[in-house]
Amino acid sequence: MEQKELKKLVSAMSLEEKALQLTQYPVYELDESAEAVVTGLCDLGGIDREALWHTGTILNAPNGETVQSIRKTRREKGISDPFPFMLDVIHGYRTIYPVPLAMACTFNTALIEDCAELAATEASCDGVDVTFSPMVDLGRDARWGRVMEGAGEDPYWSGEVGKAMIRGYHRGGIACCVKHFAGYGAAEAGREYNTTDISERNLREYYLCAYRACLEEQPELFMSSFNLLNGKPILGHKEIMIDLLRKEWGFDGVVISDFGAVEELHEHGYCETGRDCARVALSGGLDIEMGSSVYASYLPELVRTGAVSEAQLDEAVLRVLELKNKLGMYENPERNTDLQKRDEVTLSKSGRAISRRAVEEGSVLLKNNGVLPLKESAKIALVGPFASTREIIGNWAGKGRIEECVPVKEGVEKLLQRAVPYASGCSWKLFDTDESGFEEAERISAQADCIVACVGEHMMNSGEAHSRADIRIPEIQRKLIAKLHKLKKPLVLVVFGGRPLVLSEVEAFADAILYVWQPGTEGGNGIANLLYGKAIPCGKTVMSFPRSSGQCPIYYNCFSTGRPKKQDMPSALSGEEWRTGYDDEYNSPLYPFGYGLSYTEFMYSDLKLSAARMKRGGKITATVNLKNVGSRDGYETVQWYIRDLFASVVRPVKELKGYEKVFLKAGEERSISFEINEELLKFYTDGGEYAAEKGAFELFVGGNSRDCLKTNFELVD
Ligand code: BGC
Repeated sequence: MEQKELKKLVSAMSLEEKALQLTQYPVYELDESAEAVVTGLCDLGGIDREALWHTGTILNAPNGETVQSIRKTRREKGISDPFPFMLDVIHGYRTIYPVPLAMACTFNTALIEDCAELAATEASCDGVDVTFSPMVDLGRDARWGRVMEGAGEDPYWSGEVGKAMIRGYHRGGIACCVKHFAGYGAAEAGREYNTTDISERNLREYYLCAYRACLEEQPELFMSSFNLLNGKPILGHKEIMIDLLRKEWGFDGVVISDFGAVEELHEHGYCETGRDCARVALSGGLDIEMGSSVYASYLPELVRTGAVSEAQLDEAVLRVLELKNKLGMYENPERNTDLQKRDEVTLSKSGRAISRRAVEEGSVLLKNNGVLPLKESAKIALVGPFASTREIIGNWAGKGRIEECVPVKEGVEKLLQRAVPYASGCSWKLFDTDESGFEEAERISAQADCIVACVGEHMMNSGEAHSRADIRIPEIQRKLIAKLHKLKKPLVLVVFGGRPLVLSEVEAFADAILYVWQPGTEGGNGIANLLYGKAIPCGKTVMSFPRSSGQCPIYYNCFSTGRPKKQDMPSALSGEEWRTGYDDEYNSPLYPFGYGLSYTEFMYSDLKLSAARMKRGGKITATVNLKNVGSRDGYETVQWYIRDLFASVVRPVKELKGYEKVFLKAGEERSISFEINEELLKFYTDGGEYAAEKGAFELFVGGNSRDCLKTNFELVD
């Protein structure tokens, strides 16, 4: 439809109709008898149930049949306005692949894109038009439950992951929404929904990067976040919502609030009345209000009294109609809803295979003294609360069904073609103290050649509203691991988590640690392949693994202090009293950003630059020799980092600037190159300009952010 026709539609609407265009409620509200799901029945405020049929968009889509029946009822009510269904399709729709944090560890954007396409295809046939994904909030604090939804602590990599997801969603036929804008991941102390205080520099250089990068792929929506930023709720931040997003970045799509966030302006202590919430949100640049109804209740009156301009309201409504138009819904209001195709594409063999590959590439091998891969002939005991459960699909698992998820035991037994002794030992519950299952776990372990213990945190202990103050493996499981260790058998830990858990207390007990995050539908099959070497681990962690909860937030791209420690040791051990650090803890994480082992080994050598000086506007090329010195084929993610040694504002000790995932056969070697140009060296200078400053730089290359080869170069005028 032409723009001018959309404008005509807007001008034909009453103020009440316009306000409803900007109102979004969960679909179950259309059914008075419906059981409340997830968030419970909402406070409908000033709108009656009948009016809900006239909202512009709707949250959630139960299935294709319901979507079709709702569309039919609307037609019968004489409503011709197209009606997009929006849902959180976060890491799969029915075929669930690993949580986004795990996907990011694959360092494989093609695979990330394929997985997003798979999710979009399944979802769109079942009636979904828009997903609230990707979530690209920077995650530096593992206590925050929502780090599982993002791509970790690196701003550049978060942007690359977000972009790949958007491409995939578009390929699969759904629109998408970048969230949660902005800075939600900086919640103080990792406490969910908590306040954030982020300087302009920190925002621009780190927190905003990924959202901005996502714009390159033209996402249709942005979602505002729940948090306060520097004393004001995001919805009250014209500087962020209008000056930056709309004017500076030129985003002309729809901005939607997070669930209930408009009304929460009152709870924040920012707006006294519902009327004020509506005024602040609309004039602050928000289009759709999700999960509350102050727009529907107050916007018409606010326009009539001149408190907000009708032109501003019209602009927001027009953007919603433009979205429907982009979705092709004026010509084809049913869009891709197609029950027959849905049945063909849902949980298909090829979809499951992609999701299994994602498990194999996203899992991170943190430790291995040679016990892995296991021999198929070895007698193993499978223990731990996650060995046989299907509850490893992950939080925010869309329409994924737990019963469709493959547990580890099933995957291992299928691979081995025989039954394997199993005992859970204990439950996964955080405060459980029941040790009555230990004995059986010890008994079967004592008879085995090797113990595989599936431990960690339950999928519902991360995600929205699931922050944790103590991110160790729960105590009951730590006790179980200590008992198993005493048996003096090789002990493999398969660790589940929606965040990097603190592993310090169990690390020494384990001969190998395979970190599998929350792996989704194909979890058990992918994990079995990794354990038995049918797949070679290649995941690299995108978040530093803290040694203790007290180290959070911890991230590799930090600044040097004026008193860097000479030795990375607790002061109480090193005696370095006057150096910054902890008395009782190391400064470094247990496993650094970018870390992950393989069943083979890679050697880096001969780091060279085409020139030691680079002129502005010019480029130089770095090369390094990479050799697979082990006895198996495998993938390595070569990581390039840069440090600007002295600048008008201090630069991080290392920043990831590029990477390449390389496959090398055993014994094979290859020269890997990386182009450095001025663009890569830019930052917000002391004058606020985005520019590179001349001077000395360090270039690092390696298989993680800690163990790198290093050389120097200079930027000259
Ligand atoms: C979450 C969002 C999500 C929305 C809709 C909110 O509670 O913060 O990430 O998109 O609900 O389900």
